Amino acid sequence: MQTASLKRLAVQPGPPLRGETEVPGDKSISHRAVMFGALAKGVTRVHRFLPGQDCLSTIDCFRKLGVRIEQPSPSEVVVYGQGPGGLKEPSEVLDVGNSGTTIRLMTGILSGLPFLSVVTGDGSIRRRPMGRVTRPLLEMGASIWGRENATKAPLAINGASMALEAIHYNSPVASAQVKSAVLLAGLFAEGRTSVREPLVSRDHTERMLAAFGAKIGRSEDGLTASVEGFPELRAQEVEVPGDISSAAFLLVAASIVPGSELVLYNIGVNPTRDGIIEVLRAMGGDVQVENAREVAGELVADLIVRSAPLKGTTIGGAIIPRLIDELPIIAVAALFAEGTTEIRDAAEMRVKETDRIAVMAGELRKLGADIEERPDGMIIRGGASLRGAETESHGDHRVAMALAVAGLLAEGETVINDAASIDVSFPGFAELLETLRRGA
Ligand code: S3P
Repeated sequence: MQTASLKRLAVQPGPPLRGETEVPGDKSISHRAVMFGALAKGVTRVHRFLPGQDCLSTIDCFRKLGVRIEQPSPSEVVVYGQGPGGLKEPSEVLDVGNSGTTIRLMTGILSGLPFLSVVTGDGSIRRRPMGRVTRPLLEMGASIWGRENATKAPLAINGASMALEAIHYNSPVASAQVKSAVLLAGLFAEGRTSVREPLVSRDHTERMLAAFGAKIGRSEDGLTASVEGFPELRAQEVEVPGDISSAAFLLVAASIVPGSELVLYNIGVNPTRDGIIEVLRAMGGDVQVENAREVAGELVADLIVRSAPLKGTTIGGAIIPRLIDELPIIAVAALFAEGTTEIRDAAEMRVKETDRIAVMAGELRKLGADIEERPDGMIIRGGASLRGAETESHGDHRVAMALAVAGLLAEGETVINDAASIDVSFPGFAELLETLRRGA
């Protein structure tokens, strides 16, 4: 593998992956630790913070909002919170880069703060739907302007000088970003704000806000979450687990490359995020979960994965939000499985950093894959032998990494152009993959 320039990643087929490793910290949890630390009173220390571009964007935005944040090492962050009053009108535009979590959650927070902010991001962010968060926030009394009737960034938010209105929001999409934006605005609303979703999405906001001292309510079916307005949030020590969405690339790589065996330490296996393990097992994969324990309110475990012959499966319904970010790499696993894999109920893939249905189908076809696009997923016929080709990441970190893993079993060289985006969530991915291949 050639890693000299991450703008162009070249992968050759070769040895199995063997060894033991951690992966960088969880992206969702790293964002939230900075944001909630900024709203709390006291010093929040974040250990194993993900120093990926997305989370660095969150630090940058909250610094521009007047919060003192130090980063003594790439993965240690210290947030000096002074409560919501410590956030001040920014004199610059808040640029979230590529990060959907930053813009959507921060818009929820800014809706409740009494000053004007302008938030924007890169080309992908400016194409992605923001109406899903601005709609409920406007309903709560926030003042938000933006392109296309406040549904596209840049957004301008003139936070309320009086309390927002607590609402019960029935979200049409299962999205933790929507749920979190409403709950965070709910911190600035009189009474209890609640959100109901069609399917359970990741619950890091509820867990971490509760640890910071917010009064969080949850329905038994997990579909409704609520928060009481105006809590006194207190600073916390946050221990960030390894990101299962990053581990997923190694889980699939080790499953498909014969002779591989990996131990991945300290991986977050929150039940709202662990769909990848269930799917790999349903496909015949050999994944063991060991030493499961709770760390700072999140479930963490060590994962052992060995290569195994995979078979096709059907993925749809309630599991989709539990593996939404893993669908590009699952599509790659399916290519090397016997039989057909169907992914359905996953139209949300189309509004991620890229349209991941169109992009993955298009790029994997360049390697000779047999994939059919569906409005809400794809049909992947496994067993085709792939040949290396020149592919494009389209600036999407997970597309770049999924293509790199496909290249491990394609004949000849697979090139991924514009692979620098990998730094968004998994800095050091190419180097780690190379080290594990040398571990054989
Ligand atoms: C995230 C939620 C998911 C996920 C994204 C991170 C979060 O998005 O795809 O990578 O941190 O809340 P949606 O909530 O929009 O599905």
